[in-house]
Amino acid sequence: FSIQKLSGKKLLVTAGPTKEALDPIRFLSNQSSGKMGYAIAEAARQAGAEVTLISGASLADPKGMTVVHVTSAQEMHDAVMQRFATCDAVIKAAAVADYRPEHTASRKIKKSDGPMTLTMVRNPDILKALGEHKKDQLLVGFAAETDHLEDNAKKKLNSKHLDMLVANHASDGFGSETNKVTLYFADGRKQALERMQKQQVARHICNALSGLFEMSVS
Ligand code: C5P
Repeated sequence: FSIQKLSGKKLLVTAGPTKEALDPIRFLSNQSSGKMGYAIAEAARQAGAEVTLISGASLADPKGMTVVHVTSAQEMHDAVMQRFATCDAVIKAAAVADYRPEHTASRKIKKSDGPMTLTMVRNPDILKALGEHKKDQLLVGFAAETDHLEDNAKKKLNSKHLDMLVANHASDGFGSETNKVTLYFADGRKQALERMQKQQVARHICNALSGLFEMSVS
């Protein structure tokens, strides 16, 4: 990646899961490792971008970029929103929890013999909020689905006002070193990639993003 395709661009990349606390010891989360988002942050840095990585994952901090660690979806929301006005693109690879427990207990919840009922409330949809507030920033979303991948991808691209959506089958990427994705674009184009290392997928995504930057100035 010797050509500095993203030089001068400020990128926000989110990665990893969010954790939604039940009490001081327990949380609800998901299977995201953060590897895809970290690979994108690294590829973007190599392409010359100024990268801020906002992460809920517990991987080692990559060099040459600002890393902001967050835990909950609300924290990720606040960290992204604070930096949105001054960035050129956001790549939302994070697996953000859609719901959080209605209450977080300040002390450890003690067990009883009966079943336990938990009420969950909606978290903010960060990407949707970005789509509603964007000026000229490019927005890239992710979708991991178990069913109707293409339909859901196209719907998400429209409803969240995205420029590009990276879609994979839920069984294809989580935790693994490789991923098999299809890129969907706002102008209707679609690019299906073979299964490859996440570093390679990340380069394709950065190339596609640089293409979108070129189109947006011409
Ligand atoms: O609608 P769905 O959750 O499948 O959309 C996935 C995309 O939306 C991802 O890019 C994810 O980072 C983003 N998202 C978000 N905030 C949420 C849920 C998802 O930014 N609360």
